[in-house]
Amino acid sequence: MHTPRFFKSSFSAVVLVFLSITTKAQTQLPQLGKDPVSAIVKAMTLEEKVQLVTGTGLRFAGSGPVVGEADGRVPGAAGNTMNIKRFGIPGTVLADGPAGVRIDPFHKGDSTKSYYATAWPVGTLLASSWDTALVKKVGIAFGNEVKEYGVDVILAPGMNIQRNPLNGRNFEYYSEDPVVTGYIAAAMVKGIQSNGVGTSIKHFVANNIETNRSSINAIISERALREIYLKGFEITVKNAQPMTVMSSYNKVNGTYTSERYDLLTTILRNEWGFKGIVMSDWYGGRDAAAQMKAGNNLIEPGSKSKQQMIIDAIKDGSLPESDLDSNVEQVLNYILKTPSFRHYRYSNAPDLKAHAVIARKAASEGIVLLKNEGNALPVKKNIRLALFGDGSYETIRGGTGSGEVNTPYNVSIFEGLTHAGYKLSGTVSEMYEAFIKDDQKAHPKKGMTLGAPRMIPEIAATDLPITEAAENNDMAIFTISRNAGEGTDRKVDNDFNLSATETANLTAVANAFHAKHKSVVVLLNIGGPVETESWRNQVDGILLVWQPGEEGGNAIADVMSGIVNPSGKLAVTFPVKYEDEPSARNFPGEPGPRIPTEAIYKDGIYVGYRYFNSFHVQPAFPFGFGLSYTKFKYSNLKLSSSSFRGKLTANVTVTNTGSQPGKEIIQLYLSAPHKNMDKPAEELKGFAKTMLLKPGASQTITFSVKAIDLTSFDTAQSAWVAEAGKYTLKIGTSSEDIKLSAIFSLNKVIIVEKDHKVLVPELQIDELKNNGK
Ligand code: BGC
Repeated sequence: MHTPRFFKSSFSAVVLVFLSITTKAQTQLPQLGKDPVSAIVKAMTLEEKVQLVTGTGLRFAGSGPVVGEADGRVPGAAGNTMNIKRFGIPGTVLADGPAGVRIDPFHKGDSTKSYYATAWPVGTLLASSWDTALVKKVGIAFGNEVKEYGVDVILAPGMNIQRNPLNGRNFEYYSEDPVVTGYIAAAMVKGIQSNGVGTSIKHFVANNIETNRSSINAIISERALREIYLKGFEITVKNAQPMTVMSSYNKVNGTYTSERYDLLTTILRNEWGFKGIVMSDWYGGRDAAAQMKAGNNLIEPGSKSKQQMIIDAIKDGSLPESDLDSNVEQVLNYILKTPSFRHYRYSNAPDLKAHAVIARKAASEGIVLLKNEGNALPVKKNIRLALFGDGSYETIRGGTGSGEVNTPYNVSIFEGLTHAGYKLSGTVSEMYEAFIKDDQKAHPKKGMTLGAPRMIPEIAATDLPITEAAENNDMAIFTISRNAGEGTDRKVDNDFNLSATETANLTAVANAFHAKHKSVVVLLNIGGPVETESWRNQVDGILLVWQPGEEGGNAIADVMSGIVNPSGKLAVTFPVKYEDEPSARNFPGEPGPRIPTEAIYKDGIYVGYRYFNSFHVQPAFPFGFGLSYTKFKYSNLKLSSSSFRGKLTANVTVTNTGSQPGKEIIQLYLSAPHKNMDKPAEELKGFAKTMLLKPGASQTITFSVKAIDLTSFDTAQSAWVAEAGKYTLKIGTSSEDIKLSAIFSLNKVIIVEKDHKVLVPELQIDELKNNGK
């Protein structure tokens, strides 16, 4: 363009003057990392402060299971925080989720590479390993992918209590027990955060129901909250200091968790010493000003309306600006810890091959052997197998929703067994493969799936070559698969219970193979418990393989072949029937409205084995149960003292008395006196896993019991109280099978910890009590 000479030079002079003014002004502005955070807060406008405590919103991307796009940097990341350049504040990136880094596998305009991430085994499987060192190792590799894909915080681990088998998100969570949950989550947080990235433990708290999750009111006693639902979070916060905590969607005792000062500040920060930030779940809660007051520092994914709510509340005086400032300050302190602040140059090339090896190992360690009649397993390589069930070919690696991962591949059971060198029945496999292919063509997967996805129907027994298969093969493998995810809960019919087709197929396969004296092994490819009582006697072996991640088929083959001796144990009870669960009486909520608006937790502290053991209800498979290809003997239980004075240690020796190398999970339970307090029959207080013990080898494990382990939460005093009397310390191979026990006494009542009187329910709850003293 032709510009007159005079105009050109005077224009550049103006630009120069302007530039020098802004540069001068900018250099006078406090900068993040150089100046105190309080100075930056002071210099920010109200609008900037509000922007920093609300994410930049969510954009839907077209392809794949993708929620949004953060800051344009990491396509598919769920959210972000705002950058404010004039103070040197970078944006940060938040991505799901518990089973792996959930980002878009392809970037627009970049056909040179993909951005796949490792799909780790689901949380329930990892917890079934009871192996904190292994989980930490997974966390270290997982965190490396978080960092190398340019993410600052991974929205994981999920650690709500598995209160009821139908919860659609159980696969993302660890256990029905807070001690297992808390220590497994702490190991995961430590592993991930060792990379200099953050975690967001979620969903805080009592998000145990997916039906109407964004407004359901969970009415829970103070004691059940403290002992069951908060306890796991408390253990993780105190032991691993996660960078962030995600508040949940639901209300607790009448108020949204993200709007509760007593939960987010009194308990989390003042009582437990949490140092990071709290973010809301996506669009969680209603009142942004109340969230600010409560100490829910960051509102995700952020919206104009939430921003306006905060501005209005400041302007009308209902929200003191100092409350907003305190949240801004905490968000700035969080940003200072992130890779984005350090300008970390991420590679977009984590070592997925190396991580796959860890994923395979982890999966094999959390697989649980539930039944092994006549040593049906392990299976020799020259044995010919017939594989039934869609899940043998389309193995479910993990659940749906934000717990899903874009993974480069998914090793099915068929593929895993093929890699391992097994001979598989061609006739049966070809029929399933053709059927599945046709079904997938007719029902292509479209984008992200939430909740329970459509499952491929099972081929009816009458159409399967079962008789011929029993003739030509040595053994039948029958896979039962389930899938679920956020937003909906599972159902009893055709989900917790087997479908009519599954039942008929299993009976037909069992009859045909047993008629030829050949065995049948069921593989449970599930994310939460299913009914087993009606069919378990028809089969020789049951291997609970959970949803084992991208390397599942290989890991299953490792266990089936005996390369890995199964050592997983149940971190959740399998009831005989769904109705046996105490929470079944009002799950997902109070009967009445079609969509329940409240759930009264009448089961109180009697969740999982605490209920089954105390009320003498026989489960199908108890908490802590799992078989091995070898046997273990427990001996020499020794307590450091027979009376408790502040601390006590217990030593126990475990010996491998079988013929295979193996690992054993040792569980420590306490039975407390029940003089003035209602107590479960026993409660888990510690656990340990041995190293791989060769036949004949022993290991001595030392547990330490602290005063807090003797206590229950006394509501009247808001304190953790240990009653005087005799305590029985039990060492079990499961919650039902106690191998050794010893008694110690406490000669006077002790108040171990006094807490605040908070989270009081709005009504009297008619809670279960253990009358079987
Ligand atoms: C889920 C969270 C998840 C978030 C972001 C929500 O719907 O409950 O677990 O981290 O979305 O995707």
